[in-house]
Amino acid sequence: MYDLLVIGGGPGGCAAALRAARGGLSVALFEAREVGGTCLNRGCVPTKALLHGVRPGCDWPALAQETERVVSTLRAGQEGQLRAAKVELVPARAVVTGPHTVEAGGKRWEGEHILLAAGSVPALPPIPGLDTPGVVTSDQLLADLRPRDHLLIIGGGVIGVELAWAWLSAGCRVTIVEALERLTANLDRELSQGLTMELKKAGAAVYTGASVLRVEPGPRVVFTHKGAELGLSADTVLAAAGRRPATEGLFSPGAAPEMERGFLKVDGSFRTSVPSILAIGDAVGGAMLAHKAEAEGKFAADVLLGRPPAQGLAPIPSCVYTDPELAQAGLTADEAKARGIPIVTGKCVLGGNARTLIQGGKRGFVKLVFHKETGVLLGAQVCCYRASDLISELALALSLGLTAEQLLRPVRPHPTFAEAITQAVEAGLEALEK
Ligand code: NAI
Repeated sequence: MYDLLVIGGGPGGCAAALRAARGGLSVALFEAREVGGTCLNRGCVPTKALLHGVRPGCDWPALAQETERVVSTLRAGQEGQLRAAKVELVPARAVVTGPHTVEAGGKRWEGEHILLAAGSVPALPPIPGLDTPGVVTSDQLLADLRPRDHLLIIGGGVIGVELAWAWLSAGCRVTIVEALERLTANLDRELSQGLTMELKKAGAAVYTGASVLRVEPGPRVVFTHKGAELGLSADTVLAAAGRRPATEGLFSPGAAPEMERGFLKVDGSFRTSVPSILAIGDAVGGAMLAHKAEAEGKFAADVLLGRPPAQGLAPIPSCVYTDPELAQAGLTADEAKARGIPIVTGKCVLGGNARTLIQGGKRGFVKLVFHKETGVLLGAQVCCYRASDLISELALALSLGLTAEQLLRPVRPHPTFAEAITQAVEAGLEALEK
C-alpha cells in the first residue's frame, strides 16, 4: 500500500508527487504518455520555443528539432527529479476503481490517498464538418511544424492568438474567426484591443462576433459576420475553441466522485466528495494554466503531509506570449466596477520608457487598479516585452495586499521596463489624492 497514488504526470501531478515524496510519503505516479503533460509536450513549452525561433523563411525542420531539444531536456530533468525523490513512475493509463484502488498496466495498486491531476484535452465545438481533412487541434498543429499557405483559426482565445502569432511571424497568411465581440475576452479590454491591433498590423484577418456555421470539404469555413454569410478556404483549419477536463474513462463504474460538467468538484483542500481522493489542475476547473496546477499540486501535497500549505493559490497571473507580451493578475477595472468596488487606476504608457526605446519595443503600458478608499492594489495589466516576467512583482504585491504607497518604496533600476510600474503607481496615487 502506497501513501499516495498520483494520476497524471503534468505540472500539477509532478509537483504534488515531488512535494509528497520529499516530505516522506511513498508515492507512485501514473502517466500514460510523456512526463510533463500537455504543458511540456504539447502546450506552453513547444509554443514558446516556436514563438522564440520562428521567422519568415526559417528552417522549419531545424526549428522542430530545437523545440524537441528543449522539451526533451526539460522532460529528462523532471524524470530525474522524480527518480531522485524515489517516486515510482508507472508508464501506464490508470483507472480509479475505488476510494483506495487504481488499475494500471494490468496491475492493481493500493493507496491511502489518490490525487487526480489528469489535466485537459482540446474540446471540439459542435460545428458540423470538424472531421474534414485539414482541420486540426493545437496538439496536431504543434506535432507537424511546417509553414501553411493559409491558417484559419476557429477561436480567438489564448491558444488561437499565440498560434496565430507564430505562423504570422513565419510570414504565413492567418485568419482568426472568434464568436465573441473581442479576442481573448477573459483579459482586460485594453490588452485585447492592443493585441488585436498588433495582429492586424502583422497581417492577420480578424473576424470577431463571427459564428462558425460549418466546415465544408476543402476545408472551407462558413461563418456569419455582420449579418452576412462568409466562406473562406484554407489549407489548415485550427480548432482552438477551448479545452475540456480529461476525466472521461478515468473511473470504473460507480467509482467517480461528484462532478459538474466533467469537472471534479473539490473543497478548499482539493478533496473530492470521496475523502481519500483529491483532485487539482485543469480537471477541477478555473484557469487552465500550468502554474495554477503546480500551485494546487504543492498545496494538496502539504494537506496530505499534515502541514500548513506553504504555497499560495492567488492571484493566478495570465500571460500571452505574443509581441508585445500581455500579462495580468487580479481584477481588471471592468471586473471591479461590475462587483461595485470603488477604484482608481494608474497608467504608464511605455512610449517614453528608455528600455522600450533602446530595444525598439512596440507600444505598451502598465495599468494598475487600486481600491479608491484604501489604496490597496487590486489588479495589474501589463503590455510590453517581457510582461510575463514583470507581472510577478505585481502578483507578489497583490498576494500581500500592498498599497500604492508601499509599491513606491523600492527603487527600481534604470533603464528597465519595471520603471513603468513606479510611474503607474505615481499616476494611481495622484488619482487617489483627488
Ligand atoms: P479559450 O477558452 O481561452 O478560448 C476559446 C475561444 O474560442 C473563446 O474566445 C470562444 O469564444 C471561442 N469559440 C468557441 N466556440 C467558437 C466557435 N464555434 N466559433 C468561433 N469561436 C469560438 O480556449 P483556448 O484558447 O483553446 O485555450 C484553452 C486553455 O489553455 C485556456 O484556459 C488557456 O488559458 C490555456 N492556455 C494558456 C496559455 C497561456 O497561458 N499563455 C497558452 C495556451 C493555452
